[in-house]
Amino acid sequence: MSSQTPLRHYLQFRDLTRAELDYLFARAAWIKQQFKTYQRYWPLQDRTLVMIFEKASTRTRLSFEAGIQQLGGSAIYLNTRDSQLGRGEPVEDAAQVISRMSDLVMIRTFEQDVIERFARNARVPVINGLTNEYHPCQILADIFTYIEQRGSIRGKTVAWIGDSNNVCNTWLQAAEVLDFNVRVSTPPGYEVEAERAGLHGTGHFEQFADPMDAARGADLVTTDVWTSMGFEAENEERLRDFADWQVDGEMMQAAKPDALFMHCLPAHRGEEVTAEVIDGPQSVVWDEAENRLHSQKALMEFLLLGRIQ
Ligand code: CP
Ligand code: NVA
Repeated sequence: MSSQTPLRHYLQFRDLTRAELDYLFARAAWIKQQFKTYQRYWPLQDRTLVMIFEKASTRTRLSFEAGIQQLGGSAIYLNTRDSQLGRGEPVEDAAQVISRMSDLVMIRTFEQDVIERFARNARVPVINGLTNEYHPCQILADIFTYIEQRGSIRGKTVAWIGDSNNVCNTWLQAAEVLDFNVRVSTPPGYEVEAERAGLHGTGHFEQFADPMDAARGADLVTTDVWTSMGFEAENEERLRDFADWQVDGEMMQAAKPDALFMHCLPAHRGEEVTAEVIDGPQSVVWDEAENRLHSQKALMEFLLLGRIQ
């Protein structure tokens, strides 16, 4: 426990203001440049990140673990199976103990309520590494990627095709904070729930019955798996329900000619997206994945040290 700045958490996208996000995107670009030119940058020397995973992960674990190490700190990995978390220890007690032995905690769990309760009882910053409701670190990286490729996202149009899941909810929050538009198309019965998405208003998103209408004229087309972690029992039903919500070449044609395609990964080619699109020239999925590293390094630095310049 060695944070010297006021305690801040990143549990939802809107926990950061527009000005702070603008700072973080600029900071991520600088940190990325240092990394690419092999400059040692160790502002978090002797700091310890605890990573708690109650669901599987490749990118989130890798980017946080590599990220804290590259900033001079170290990471400890805990999962439900091998810790007392899976044996009913109250989350409030776990938060007290874990945050007395570390400087920063990242959690991937099921209900948002779990991470909110953890944060209320923690002495150190807590970062949401994905919940059923939100995936704020993903959208931080995605918008950083958009800015790198096309400049400011303000006023732009993002088309979300498929399930109104944690990633979709986070795009919708981001649209309110950063002032852009999201056009969502889901199958009937899977529409956005504004309250669950944590929206303040409806002014930044529109829902469309036909995915082609959502994609028309978009600056960015994005999607995600039809079945998120924790919803596996619904997989067969979802395969049927989402069959017409696949992002394919025709849908990309409906978007602007220079539209980007994003997917948080892992992807299922032939389900939510065709191989032609995800492996095609408009796709920036590998930059998106890499940028998890750089944007989260900027986030960790900000939560522990505040603004550097
Ligand atoms: N996009 C993402 O969070 O990937 P992982 O599930 O591999 O962490
Ligand atoms: N919506 C997906 C994202 C995985 C990174 C899930 O929650 O499983």
